[in-house]
Amino acid sequence: MVFFGAAGDLAQKKLIPSLFNLYAKNALPEKFFVVGAAWDDYDDNSYRKFVAETITKNTAHGGYHKVIEDFAGNFVYVRGDFNDLKIYQEVKECIFNYNKKIGQCSNILYYLAVPPSLYSLMFERLAQSESMRICDQEEAWAHLLVEKPFGRDIDTARELEEKLRVSVPDEQVYRIDHYLAKNAIENILALRFANPLLRNAWNAECVESIEINLSETDDLSNRGSFYDGVGALLDVGQNHLLQMLALLLMNEVDVSNTDSVREVRAKVLESLYPDLEALMIRGQYEGYRQTKGVASDSKTETFFQVSLKSNLPLWEGTRFVLRSGKALGEAVNEAVVNFRPVDLSSHGLTSSVEKSFNSLRLKLGPDQLLELVMFVRKAGFDFELEPRKYQLVADHEPDGIYSPDAYELVLLDCINGDQTRFVSAREVEAAWKVFMPIMKHFPKLPLLSYEPGSNGPKLFEVSNNL
Ligand code: BG6
Repeated sequence: MVFFGAAGDLAQKKLIPSLFNLYAKNALPEKFFVVGAAWDDYDDNSYRKFVAETITKNTAHGGYHKVIEDFAGNFVYVRGDFNDLKIYQEVKECIFNYNKKIGQCSNILYYLAVPPSLYSLMFERLAQSESMRICDQEEAWAHLLVEKPFGRDIDTARELEEKLRVSVPDEQVYRIDHYLAKNAIENILALRFANPLLRNAWNAECVESIEINLSETDDLSNRGSFYDGVGALLDVGQNHLLQMLALLLMNEVDVSNTDSVREVRAKVLESLYPDLEALMIRGQYEGYRQTKGVASDSKTETFFQVSLKSNLPLWEGTRFVLRSGKALGEAVNEAVVNFRPVDLSSHGLTSSVEKSFNSLRLKLGPDQLLELVMFVRKAGFDFELEPRKYQLVADHEPDGIYSPDAYELVLLDCINGDQTRFVSAREVEAAWKVFMPIMKHFPKLPLLSYEPGSNGPKLFEVSNNL
C-alpha cells in the first residue's frame, strides 16, 4: 500500500487506525507492506514511531505494544514533493525492493490522502511514472483510491475524469464516499428490501417527504483552511447526503452485483433535480470567521438546507430535504420518512389536528434507532386521537460481533477488488448535475448566522416536531 499524504489528518484519524484494526483482526493479507509518502520530515524509523503513536492515540489498542510494534515494522517512508516525479520513482524503488524480497510481484493499493486540489497533478505524475503498471495486470493488480470531493464543480470533475480515463482504467479506480461503507447506512437497503412492511409503502403514493439530517457538534477549529471556500454543501451535501438519498430511493436490486448496484444508484442521482422554489437555508455559525485558516469576511456556509425532487415514476411528487450543519447542539445522522396523511373527518375521528400521519425516523448515527410517530387513542372518556412517538430498539445488541469502521471496509473492499461501495464516474457526474443549480443559486440567499451549540439558524424547524 502506498499512502500519499502519509502524515496528514486523514492518515492519522482514519487510514492508519483502520489498517491497524484490520491487522489486529487478521483481516489483511499475510504479507503486506506500506510506503508512506509525504513532505513531512521523517525517515523510516521516525515514521514507524509516528505510526505507533497514532495507533495509541486513535484506536482502542493502546495497550498491545508488541502488536503495534510489529505492525509499524511494515512501514517505510519516502519524503518528497508530489509535484516532482522523483517521489514516485522512489516509491516504485521501494516496491521493487519489496517484490524482490518476497520473490513475487505484489498487488498495489495507492491511496491519495491529499488535498483534492492535488488530484489533477498527481494523476498526471502517476501516469508519467507508470506507477499503475509496475507489474503485468495478469500477475498483480494496482488500484487507486481517491477521496471526495471529486472536482470543485462539474467542469473540474469532468477534467479530472478525463485525466484519469487516459491513464488509469476505470476498473482500477476506487472513488471513495465512506458513507456507502457505513454499516448503519447500508442497513437502509436491508430495511427496505427485506421488510414487507416498509417495502410496500416505499413509494410516492405513500411517502410525502423524506428528510436527511447530518448534524455535527464539531466546529471547524482544526480544519479551517480545508473547509473555507468548500462549505457544507460540497463537503457533505453533494456526496454523503446524496448517496444516502440514493440508497433510500433506488430500485430493488441484487446487492451482490456490483454493476447493477452502481447503475441503480446512478439512475436515482440522474433523476434528481433541485426544487429552487422550496425553502433553502444557508447559515454560518457565529465565530467561524475567527477560525484559523478562515477568511475574516468568509461567506462559506457551515449549515444548509436544500430540497430536491425526482422524476422517477415511483417517486414523482415526493419532496426530499437535505440538511446539515457544523457546531450544532446534537450530533445526529438520520433519515426521516414522512408518510402521507389520512383525513380524519371521514372516519368520524377527532384530534387536535385535522389529519393524522406516520413518520419513521431511521437514526443511523451515532447510535441506531427506529422511531415511529403513530396516531393513537388518547387516554380518557372520549375517543380522541393524539400523536405519539414509539421508539424501536433492537431486541438484543449483537454481542462480540465486530462492526468495522467505514474506512476498514473501504480498504478491505479495495484489496478484494470490490467496487460496489465506491462511486462510479456516472454517479459523480450525476451528483454534480444535481448540485450545480443549487451552487449557482446559493450565493443569492442571505447568510444567516447561528449560535454554536444551537439547532442552526432560527428559521430552522425540524418538520415533525410534535
Ligand atoms: C467528511 C467531511 O467527508 O465526512 C467532514 O469532510 C464530515 O466534514 C465527515 O464531518 C462526516 O463523516 P462521519 O463518518 O464522521 O459521519
